[in-house]
Amino acid sequence: MSRYFITTPIYYVTAKPHLGHAYTTIIADALARWHRLLGDDVHFLVGTDEHGQKVADYAEAAGKSPQEFVDEIAPLYAQAWERLGITNSDFIRTTEQRHKIGVAELLQRCYDAGDIELDVYKGKYCVACEEYYTDDELDEGDLCRIHKRKVEYYEEENYFFRLSRFQQRLLDWYDAHPGSIKPEFRGNEALGLIRGGLRDFSVSRTSLKWGIPLPWDSKHVAYVWFDALANYITAIGYGSDEQRFNDWWPGHHLIGKDIIRHHCVYWPAMLMSAGLEPPAGWGVGGWLLVGGEKMSKTSGNVVNPLDLVDEIGVDGFRYYVLAETAYGQDGDFTYEGLIARYNSDLANNLGNLLSRVATVVGKKCDGIGPAPAPDSTLAAVATQAYANAAEAWNDMQPSKALDAAWTLIRATNAYLEANEPWKAEPSPALYTVMGDALEALRIVAVLASPAVPASSQAVWERIGLPGQVTDQRLPEAAGWGGYPGGLTVVKGDPLFPRR
Ligand code: MSP
Repeated sequence: MSRYFITTPIYYVTAKPHLGHAYTTIIADALARWHRLLGDDVHFLVGTDEHGQKVADYAEAAGKSPQEFVDEIAPLYAQAWERLGITNSDFIRTTEQRHKIGVAELLQRCYDAGDIELDVYKGKYCVACEEYYTDDELDEGDLCRIHKRKVEYYEEENYFFRLSRFQQRLLDWYDAHPGSIKPEFRGNEALGLIRGGLRDFSVSRTSLKWGIPLPWDSKHVAYVWFDALANYITAIGYGSDEQRFNDWWPGHHLIGKDIIRHHCVYWPAMLMSAGLEPPAGWGVGGWLLVGGEKMSKTSGNVVNPLDLVDEIGVDGFRYYVLAETAYGQDGDFTYEGLIARYNSDLANNLGNLLSRVATVVGKKCDGIGPAPAPDSTLAAVATQAYANAAEAWNDMQPSKALDAAWTLIRATNAYLEANEPWKAEPSPALYTVMGDALEALRIVAVLASPAVPASSQAVWERIGLPGQVTDQRLPEAAGWGGYPGGLTVVKGDPLFPRR
C-alpha cells in the first residue's frame, strides 16, 4: 500500500474562515478522498497558524491575550471543516507543545549546520504578509502589492537563514524532480524566483514575544514563517516521534499562489539545511476572487462559506469549488455562477439521471434493478471516463476529473433518450437498457464521491448497493459489470432540487 500525505496551508487565526480558505481545503479533501479510493494509506493534515505579529496585533485590538484570542478562533476552523465534510486526519495548532518541540529541533539543526547566523536587519516589513520587502518590490508610497497597505520600517538584530547559499542546490533539486510543482506554469514561477537570486531571510525577532524562542538564544523568537512551515513535519512527529515522521515524510502541499516563495523556495532549503528531504510535491492554486479582488477583511468582500452551504448544501458548494475553476488559475466567485453550476451539472444531469432511472425501474421493472449488458456501448464510455479522471486527479486538476465523470452521466442520459425506455413495454431489451444505466450510475457514484460524498452515497443506496461508496477500491470499482442486478431501487426525493 502506498502512503499519501497531503497538507493545506495553516490559516492565520485572525478571523473566521472565508471562502478562500475553504477553497484550498476542499481541493485537498477531494484529493485525499481520491487517494483513499485508490487504496492509498492517506494522512491529511490541516491546521492554524497562531504566532506572529499579525495575530498579536489582532489579539491586542480585541483586548485579549494572544492565547485567549487564538483559543477562540481556532475552533471555528475545525467546525467549518467538519461542516464542509473535510476528512482531515489531524489538525495542528502552532501553539501546541508537539509543534514547539519540533520547531526548536528544526531551528537547532539549521543552526548547527551553520546556515543560521546573527546579523542586523534594516528594512521594510509588511505585517499582513509577515514578509520583508525591498523598495523595488513595493508600490509607490511603500505599499505592499498584495495588501495595498503601508509597510513598517524595522531595524533590529536578527538571526538570518542563509538562503543565498541554496540557489544551486534548489535548482539542481528541481531539475531532478520535474513536474513536482503543479500546474507547470506555477512551477515556472517558483523557478523564476530561484533563478532571480536568493536573499537571506530573517528567522528571528527580539521585538516580538508571541512566538517560539530560539533554543540557543531565548531573547529571540522564531520568525512566524519558519514556525509555520515547520507544522508540516512537527505534526507527523518531527522532534518527537522519529518513526512516525519517517513513515509519512515527504508530503504533498497544497498552497495558494501568494505563498509560493515560502513553500517552494524557503521551505525546501530549510529542509535541506536540516538534512531532511524536500516535499514530495506541491499544488499551487490561484485565488478565488470576489468582484475581481482577493477576498480580505480590508476589501470588505468576505464570503462566508457556511452561509453558502446553508443555501445550496455541502455537496453543491463543494462541487462548485472543484468544478468551476481550473486549479492553478484565478477564479471569480459569483452567486449566479454557483446556482448555474448546481442547476446544470447536479440538478439537470446527475439528479435527473438518477430520478429517471429510478422512475422507470419502479414502473417497468417492479422496482428491481436489472443487471447491465457486458457489451453495452456505455462500457467504453465508462472506461474512458475513469482513465481521464485518474489522469486529471494525478495532475491535480479536479475540474477536469469531474468533467470526465460527467461525460459518463451525459452519455447515459443520451443513451436513455435514444432508447426511450419510459415509452416501452417491459421486455429483455428494456431491462438491459436500465441495467446499463444503473451500472453507469454505480460508476458515477464512485468517481463523483471525492467531490460530492453525501450525494454519491445517496445514489449508491438508492440503486440498492450495500455498504459505503467510500469503501470501493479503484480501478476495480470502475470496471464495467459491477452492478449485480436484482437489487431494490428507490426513487426518493430529488437529490438536487432545482434552485
Ligand atoms: N498562515 C499563512 C500560511 C502558512 S502555511 C505554512 C497564510 N495564511 S492565510 O490564512 O493568509 O492564507 C493561507 C492560504 O489561503 C494562502 O495560500 C492564500 O492564497 C489562501 N487564500 C486566502 N484567500 C484566498 C482566496 N481568496 N482565494 C484562494 N485562496 C486564498 O498565508
